[in-house]
Amino acid sequence: MDKLIINGGTRLKGEVKISGAKNAALPLIAACLLNEGCTTLSNIPTLRDITTIIKLMEKLGVEVKGKDILKIDASQVHSYRAPYELVKTMRASILVLGPLLARVGRAKVSLPGGCAIGPRPVNLHLKALESMGATIKLERGYIVAECKKLRGARVYFDLSTVTGTENIMMAATLAQGTTVVENAAKEPEVEELASALKKMGAHIEGAGTDVITIEGVAHLHPIEHTIMPDRIEAGTYMVAAGITQGDITLLNCNVTYLNALIEKLEEIGLKITEKNGNLRVVGTTPFKSTDVKTLPYPGFPTDMQAQIMTLLCLVEGASIVTETIFKDRFMHVGELRRLGADIRVEGNTAIVNGVKKLYGAPVMATDLRASASLVLAGLVAEGVTEVSRVYHLDRGYERMEVKLSQLGADIQRVKE
Ligand code: EPZ
Repeated sequence: MDKLIINGGTRLKGEVKISGAKNAALPLIAACLLNEGCTTLSNIPTLRDITTIIKLMEKLGVEVKGKDILKIDASQVHSYRAPYELVKTMRASILVLGPLLARVGRAKVSLPGGCAIGPRPVNLHLKALESMGATIKLERGYIVAECKKLRGARVYFDLSTVTGTENIMMAATLAQGTTVVENAAKEPEVEELASALKKMGAHIEGAGTDVITIEGVAHLHPIEHTIMPDRIEAGTYMVAAGITQGDITLLNCNVTYLNALIEKLEEIGLKITEKNGNLRVVGTTPFKSTDVKTLPYPGFPTDMQAQIMTLLCLVEGASIVTETIFKDRFMHVGELRRLGADIRVEGNTAIVNGVKKLYGAPVMATDLRASASLVLAGLVAEGVTEVSRVYHLDRGYERMEVKLSQLGADIQRVKE
């Protein structure tokens, strides 16, 4: 296992290119199961999660070639089983469930376990697929689903689920009749998936709103598509500019999807200016404490909660961070405390009292975004911070230590 060694104190300056969005690429790769040709996806980020879903697609009989440009040939699907050893490393593997049912009428997908940020159930996915005519059984840790031909249905999600919305939208594209998804997730990655499915020939209206209507068609055809930039990676580098009092220009990021984050960071005091698709972020202090509450899109993204908490650790005064999406997404708090942060957790709320300094120490990554928050802390902590188990980081951040070094950070990756 690798670890990152960071010597804090450098103000980051320069340009960073934002990579393709992990949470757009994953459903789009799964969606290739819906057509019997060869789809080309460009701007694919080099991430562990992408490697995992490619392995999963190959197990199903799909041929995948390339790296940042993927050619995905799903003409032969000879298995419908998503094995535990792959699904346990990435719960987004559940995204093959809907497409497999639509394509081959069967699916045997390992029930995703919990993870560091909470139990992560998929009950809403399963309930919706049953309403479309699928019979679903749970057998020895596997979801066993069958349905000769899915039929359109009215689906209401008790709560906004991103991959739940994506799974049903994909399944519904080849169902008999019309499906209406109410209380659908409105995340930009859902909209991106819908626009790619429409390019494949699907009939979808309303993506990006809370009611999506999908009229089933007989076939979909292969396409070429370029993945949107990763808004969470962009947000992470925006915080890096703030926390190091640096000056970073983010290239190739889609500002429209960053409003809640820009709003919050400007409230704290960062100077953010947009120039033809690039975002310049300057971290001139003094910063002001503020409160953050995570919400489904377009609210403040839960995937940025850990990162902004790190910034608030160094802002004078008390800031309240409330996590409303996941049950247990404060695993980074204990590690930040090791670096000298003053944070108290009460239920789904963390009270962050700003301190003058953080001090380098060995810390351990627990989940993808928590690991990013520890790297951000290391960039500014006095002395050396060692972040272990960076495989968590590699799941969602492309070559983070390389990008940070190019911005002037004193950071290196070593074998643990
Ligand atoms: C997606 O996860 C993202 N992953 C997550 O990003 C992100 O944090 C999350 O959406 C929220 O924005 C991908 O897109 C691959 P949910 P997802 O279903 O779809 C509960 C990252 O860091 N729920 O929107 O799994 C669930 O427990 C990852 O890139 C049910 O109860 O999240 C959670 O509390 C982490 N039953 C809430 O809904 C269900 O059937 C939102 O979960 C489904 C979800």
